Amino acid sequence: MKRFTLPNTDIEAPNVILGLMRIQDKTDDEVRELVRTARDAGIDFVDHADVYGNDLHGCERRFAEAMQLTASDRDAITIQTKAGIVGDGPYFDFSYEHLIESVNGSLDALQTDRIDILLLHRPDALVEPEEVARAFDELETAGKVRAFGVSNHTPRQIDLLKRFVRQPIVANQVQLSITHSPVVSQGVAANMLGEQQSVTLDGGGIVDYCRLHDITLQAWSPFQAGFFTGVFLGSPEYPELNAVIDRLAAQYDVPPIAIATAWITRHPAQMQVVLGTTSPERVAGAALGSDLPLTRAEWYELFRAAGHLVP
Ligand SMILES: NC(=O)c1ccc[n+]([C@@H]2O[C@H](COP(=O)([O-])OP(=O)(O)OC[C@H]3O[C@@H](n4cnc5c(N)ncnc54)[C@H](OP(=O)(O)O)[C@@H]3O)[C@@H](O)[C@H]2O)c1
Repeated sequence: MKRFTLPNTDIEAPNVILGLMRIQDKTDDEVRELVRTARDAGIDFVDHADVYGNDLHGCERRFAEAMQLTASDRDAITIQTKAGIVGDGPYFDFSYEHLIESVNGSLDALQTDRIDILLLHRPDALVEPEEVARAFDELETAGKVRAFGVSNHTPRQIDLLKRFVRQPIVANQVQLSITHSPVVSQGVAANMLGEQQSVTLDGGGIVDYCRLHDITLQAWSPFQAGFFTGVFLGSPEYPELNAVIDRLAAQYDVPPIAIATAWITRHPAQMQVVLGTTSPERVAGAALGSDLPLTRAEWYELFRAAGHLVP
């Protein structure tokens, strides 16, 4: 498992992490086996959100109840969670009161005294960055949150926050898979009249922006074809892509999921892949893609086979 120190933190992290959005209905044993398999593969970093689960803090609570972490177990795991979505609506809320209430709820559900990384989940159109700054200062001073980041944010939205927030923004979690890759594919086809791929959907150059500012990109839904439309792996809708994935999987002697993971980890921005599977076997397979050295030609072949233009 490839590891690195998250820039602007003292957190040492793997480049494949375990998303726990889908564990609400899993038994204690299933959650424990999932986390144990991940840890055996070197994945000691979990991704939560207050809104994951059937009710508020549902997956965070399921995780803590199943794991019953001792103090030393807790120290050995990096726990990231998110705030800012109000599920009942839905709408977004980056107000001071909401952020404080959300973090207190997460700490309680996770049965811990600190969140290692807190992400602002989705941009709030009504954001008042001074309020975010006040909440971050209070959470940091109280020792409740160690580091702060964002999710689904554009470069300008991050700039606006940075104008007021004192703490570094250390992560930006965005949707990225071989098939759903506007943050990568737009730049490849920039400035081409009439080409859909040329259209800027991410506020403009989010990957380059994050690289320039030492913000670690985290790729959510790494195997989903689109926005929760099902995975592309093994899908009859992507015969060409799966043929290339299967050929490379055989060549590198890994399961196909490792190739799909490697397509993201191969990117020099040093991104983290946020797995969502609840299958221990798939987690172990994906982990094999952590430092699988796809060649430039192979990376682009996968990109083309997913239907992207290489002009
Ligand atoms: N920041 C955000 O806005 C945001 C949004 C969404 C998600 N996330 C985070 O990203 C994580 C990953 O998201 P995701 O769950 O959508 O990503 P994913 O890993 O691309 O998809 C996993 C889902 O696909 C299913 N699946 C079916 N066949 C599969 C196969 N061959 N290989 C792998 N999975 C297969 C899994 O089922 P099984 O469990 O049965 O394997 C699971 O339901 C979440 O847990 C969450 O932490 C963040």
